[in-house]
Amino acid sequence: MKIHPLDALKKNPFVLAPMAGITDHAFRTFMRKMDASVVVTELVSATGIEYKSQRTLDLMSFDESQRPIGIQLFGEDSEIIARAAKVVESQGADFVDLNFGCPVPKVVKKGAGSAMMKDLVVMQKVLSSTVNAVKIPVTIKIRTGWDANQRNALDVCNIAYNEGITWVAIHGRTRAQGYEGLADWEFISEIKAKSKIPILGNGDILTPQKAVSRLKESGCDGVLIGRGALKNPLIFADALSLYRGENLRTDLKRNYKSIFLDLSLAIREHAPDHITNIQLKKFACWFSTGYQGSSAFRKQIFQLKDTNEVLSCALDFFGSISDIEQEDTSGDSFLMGGHG
Ligand SMILES: Cc1cc2nc3c(=O)[nH]c(=O)nc-3n(C[C@H](O)[C@H](O)[C@H](O)COP(=O)(O)O)c2cc1C
Repeated sequence: MKIHPLDALKKNPFVLAPMAGITDHAFRTFMRKMDASVVVTELVSATGIEYKSQRTLDLMSFDESQRPIGIQLFGEDSEIIARAAKVVESQGADFVDLNFGCPVPKVVKKGAGSAMMKDLVVMQKVLSSTVNAVKIPVTIKIRTGWDANQRNALDVCNIAYNEGITWVAIHGRTRAQGYEGLADWEFISEIKAKSKIPILGNGDILTPQKAVSRLKESGCDGVLIGRGALKNPLIFADALSLYRGENLRTDLKRNYKSIFLDLSLAIREHAPDHITNIQLKKFACWFSTGYQGSSAFRKQIFQLKDTNEVLSCALDFFGSISDIEQEDTSGDSFLMGGHG
């Protein structure tokens, strides 16, 4: 049964940010189990849907355990996007999310992604045709603006409100910044204070404590967590616990081994062995960030060929860290590129 994303947000304001190549079927299932309130696919090409590209359609697959699930679209043509939104609706997704934040040149050159922030007339057309095409909620994800001279997120929020959009998620950097510098949470707070539409803040939330403080200080209706969930998959459960005035979930930390096993089962269900092998190595390395012995662990796991050996190496590591604190590595560069 469909769940309205705003209803989910009221109970749990911590949302998994869309990440291309990462928030796939398996990872979304895993993250919903790990208490992310809402999940979103990676960006999916509206034109790819129009041409019924199998690769594109595969990106949209989900199961009931992921609800509320949003499918994120990108494109430049309002009619093609609206038709793609209808397909999203017919697939049974809970909502459609539109990507107006992607900074990647290949996308921006065509006028899609963050380039829409330079042309609010076109953006408005996209919003109105999409909202008119479907009955499910439509949300958008933006940046603060194109560059430091055009930080027009507030104008976007006003247009979005008038067009009946459900929420605006703001990654607190301009397109020109890419992933450099820090997300500007003061700016996000200002937009929240001046907007009538629900706002989700996003950028550089790497700990559960930060998730709660950003939420409270900005007054936002929710926060989106991306890379923080790759360094610490317990971030949602811990943030929710702190938000409710409870303690950190040390029970989960003690079960880290079985949590990693859960992820491996989800990956195996959807991917052939060679992809499972790579995915397990990737997640194991990311999750090990900031733990004692993590660099030796990474070296060791990348030398292994057999997937079962990779898994057992990872399980040994995550079984051994239940009493070890994860160091704060927010100062280190980590995945400095993406589609939003
Ligand atoms: C590898 C990677 C892929 C991303 N892909 C998408 C995407 O498909 N759609 C999108 O809206 N944002 C995408 N983003 C942006 C994130 O959703 C988020 O806005 C950004 O990473 C800042 O949040 P964070 O500091 O919590 O990671 C991506 C980010 C990364 C690192």
